[in-house]
Amino acid sequence: MAILPILTAPHPFLKKKAAPVTIFDAALAQTLRDMLDTMYDAKGIGLAAVQVGIGQRMLVMDVGEEDGGAHIIINPVITWLSEEMSSYNEGCLSVPTHYSDVVRPAEVKITYQDPTGAPHTLHARGLLSTCLQHEMDHLDGILFLDHLSSLKRTMILRKLVKKQKAGGALAL
Ligand code: NI
Repeated sequence: MAILPILTAPHPFLKKKAAPVTIFDAALAQTLRDMLDTMYDAKGIGLAAVQVGIGQRMLVMDVGEEDGGAHIIINPVITWLSEEMSSYNEGCLSVPTHYSDVVRPAEVKITYQDPTGAPHTLHARGLLSTCLQHEMDHLDGILFLDHLSSLKRTMILRKLVKKQKAGGALAL
């Protein structure tokens, strides 16, 4: 078990677009287990590889047992979004202590691969859908802050920078 350091906004790596995973080996499986350990340790419900400094298109989620417990998602591609929208008060392990309402499609369908490279599909609803879209945004360098007004985004980023300068409590 390894707990990986989580990058915090406005770290430039969080703005990078991640590359597809092409090698499905034991090292990849271990990295994904470490990501799950890191997510649980930080009391998060989702974590993208980008957030721990790995520029690959993969993420982990666990929004509860009723939604299937731990999900490991590699190379996800959206195949369908519902017209119905829903709003959720989102937070992010890379934007500690700040939360804001974000409106997204209520349901999403994706294709993805598991750690062996095998293809799967997932139809996500409710919190799982919100979490999945949030984590998939990370793969393209998008934070939930980017869905807010620029005024609100700037305000939150300024506070984060101030906090990071004040003390080393945040994981950089
Ligand atoms: Ni996040």
